[in-house]
Amino acid sequence: MKTTLLAISAFIGIGGFNGVFADDEKMPVGHHHHEMSTIDARIPLKVSPEMKRNQLSNMRGHVEAINSIVGLMSENKFEEASKVAHSKLGLSPEMQSMCGMFNDENFEKLGLAFHKSGDDLGDTLQTKDMYASLRALNKTTQICVACHATYRQ
Ligand code: HEC
Repeated sequence: MKTTLLAISAFIGIGGFNGVFADDEKMPVGHHHHEMSTIDARIPLKVSPEMKRNQLSNMRGHVEAINSIVGLMSENKFEEASKVAHSKLGLSPEMQSMCGMFNDENFEKLGLAFHKSGDDLGDTLQTKDMYASLRALNKTTQICVACHATYRQ
């Protein structure tokens, strides 16, 4: 898990993680846990209120897609799960332009890596191999987690 996350961050070159760790190191030891829970070190995106609403609505679509995929996998409906992965999480022209609208190169890279992982998940689901599919799903959700740890609106 740790190595995969490191591999992902090395691959996409997330600057945000370094910032988070650097702040962490400066904290007085005794206050460590308290500080961590109150300080939000995530990088804010510069976006209009309309784009914020759009982004959140897309995000709710993403979590819904993950939920459908898990449900379909549990019913052995791999074909349908694959369609959801490609159509809702994969790299569409709409998602490609959306990810580039934030004027943040790392965010865009992370977004594109995420949508690519959605297509990889769709391809893996086609094989109907449960363990390989779970691993592919985990790669996708790791990028959800990595981006949420690095950026906020
Ligand atoms: C490239 C970055 C990125 C990726 C990848 C990403 N998100 Fe998000 N997501 C965000 C940002 C930024 C926010 C706003 C968070 C904030 O301001 O606190 C957000 C917010 C959300 C929200 C809150 C929606 C609301 O209405 O408040 C949900 C749910 C969510 N994401 C789910 C997901 C899921 C599930 C995935 C993966 C399948 C995912 N996201 C992948 C960047 C990302």
